[in-house]
Amino acid sequence: MIDFHSHILPEMDDGANDVEESLALLAELKSQGVTKVVATPHYRGRCSVKRFLFDRQKSYDKLKAAMDATGEEYPEIILGAEIAISEYILQHHGLDRLCIQGTDYLMAEMPNRNWEPFLYHVLYTLAAQYKLKIMIAHIDRYFSTIGRNEKIMKLIEMQPVFQINTPALMLRKGKKLLKWLNLFDAKMVFGTDCHNMKNRKPFYKGPMSYVVKKYGEDFLDDINLFGKNMLGVESE
Ligand SMILES: [Fe+2]
Repeated sequence: MIDFHSHILPEMDDGANDVEESLALLAELKSQGVTKVVATPHYRGRCSVKRFLFDRQKSYDKLKAAMDATGEEYPEIILGAEIAISEYILQHHGLDRLCIQGTDYLMAEMPNRNWEPFLYHVLYTLAAQYKLKIMIAHIDRYFSTIGRNEKIMKLIEMQPVFQINTPALMLRKGKKLLKWLNLFDAKMVFGTDCHNMKNRKPFYKGPMSYVVKKYGEDFLDDINLFGKNMLGVESE
């Protein structure tokens, strides 16, 4: 099982504070059935892509050394990033280098405020300029149970992959969202968006049990297969 959204890398963003916390997050993910985790530290355009990648590698190397030193088995880490979509983001060079390792999928984080038309334009430009595929981070954050979800309807036309935060699946809103995206035959993946071992712990197993109970094993298998194909994983 793959967790597509996490802040497990130490000292990178508002996620894991140190290596110890990273190891605890990884151990917790493993205990909940996660075999691969995509590390998606925030990229908000406050430094160059080059600098961000340097810092990310340093953080990963430190964590990998600590993982090896424990002799324990952990989920495999795949490097990625969560790119904040703003009017300024396209000024940065090499955004394609922030794709999920080994793929052409870029995880885009939309703002919480209203989505001005230019934001869609930024997504289109990213996709066209770099020939990328777009994954929209935590789509549950923008879904409303009231009204027509115009913002998301416009995104559906672009056919991105929608990443749903697993904790949301235990809420009425997230349950409705899953049903709604399924009606539109939208492509989706799941991620914990875990940050720490306090108030944003990994929560994966319970939500997956809900999905199986509600939609059946085959439904979850299809989502997992899509995720595996995206990462180029043959079998587990
Ligand atoms: Fe996140």
